[in-house]
Amino acid sequence: MNALNKKTVEDLSVAGKKVLVRCDFNVPLADGKITSDKRIVASLPTIQYLVKNGAKVILCSHLGRPKGEFKPEFSLAPVAVRLSELLGQEVKMAKDVVGESAQALAADLKDGEVMLIENVRFHKEETKNDPEFSKKLASLAELYVNDAFGSAHRAHSSTTGVADYLPAACGYLIQKEIEFMGTALANPKRPLVAILGGAKVSDKIGVITNLLEKCDTIIIGGGMAYTFMKALGYEIGTSLLEADRVEDAKAMMETAKAKGVKFLIPVDNKVGKEYAPDTEAMVINSDEIPEGWMGLDIGPKTQELFADAIKGSGTVIWNGPMGVSEWENFAAGTIAVATAVAESGAISIIGGGDSAAAVQKLGFADKMSHISTGGGASLEFLEGKELPGIAALNDR
Ligand code: 3PG
Repeated sequence: MNALNKKTVEDLSVAGKKVLVRCDFNVPLADGKITSDKRIVASLPTIQYLVKNGAKVILCSHLGRPKGEFKPEFSLAPVAVRLSELLGQEVKMAKDVVGESAQALAADLKDGEVMLIENVRFHKEETKNDPEFSKKLASLAELYVNDAFGSAHRAHSSTTGVADYLPAACGYLIQKEIEFMGTALANPKRPLVAILGGAKVSDKIGVITNLLEKCDTIIIGGGMAYTFMKALGYEIGTSLLEADRVEDAKAMMETAKAKGVKFLIPVDNKVGKEYAPDTEAMVINSDEIPEGWMGLDIGPKTQELFADAIKGSGTVIWNGPMGVSEWENFAAGTIAVATAVAESGAISIIGGGDSAAAVQKLGFADKMSHISTGGGASLEFLEGKELPGIAALNDR
């Protein structure tokens, strides 16, 4: 039994079979070079299992948002090169998605060989989950494995549609992600502490609402904290404010109180004159932010307050930086929280996207129990939503 109750790659007889594997190879690129291969590395266990067990492996993914047109800058070719290096075997790159090149390569594939088709979003039908396109994709193979956790919140042809035409199971990455995050939500080692940061309250309302039902402590930092301060009646200068979310913020704090959930927002801040890395800055209490100054990081008293709450926790879920962590002058809050999480000894789960990037850049990656490969997908999972890419797979 796995946490998902969905068929896994090990439930399929893959020897000698063509297996279409949906990965999330949506990796960051700069000048055509991959700047982080984390998502490629995360896909290896499933691919290696299939190779070892004699499958003919046909990989697919999206990369960026080419909007249904062939655009060379969105080609998956650099991924095939990196993947070949990591696997220690050739990954054959098709010139198209479901055209002659992909079909010919798939037809010639031998047991244990690996190929990659082009970016599925070169066809506009992909994001429309068009049944004809799904059928065409499915016709390349005999079995389907979805291992693209980062795209599991998208109901597209390659993430859900193909499952209508092929036996469908999940790969190891999806299993691992769901095991960590599912257990953290359903059966956590307590106390369960959630740390939420990032710019916008509106992005996190669903997550906070769901976590209020499950957590012992919720910690709020980052740009969105200022909307909570406003809800407490503080003046926040030129800090980020979502005026239409002040009432929601107030309601969330009231719910926390009623449920006995500790709800922490910053008591002090590092504020700057303008939104710039080297702007004039000072530390100020949350109820004393002067006009014309904006909050860009949590302050030292807040670092201590948050670190104390993290110390002694059983499980920590963290999504979103505490300040503008990509700027040295405003990274201290995020570093302090990362240090506290790393030293807590708790099961630590880092949501993908910005917080994962921050933890990696600051050198704390090895200290965390799990860093999710999903940005939007991990948020939707934490919101308690069903992910279509997982729902579409065959039940056990
Ligand atoms: C991601 O990076 O979050 C996933 O790959 C999904 O990409 P998308 O937001 O373009 O669907």
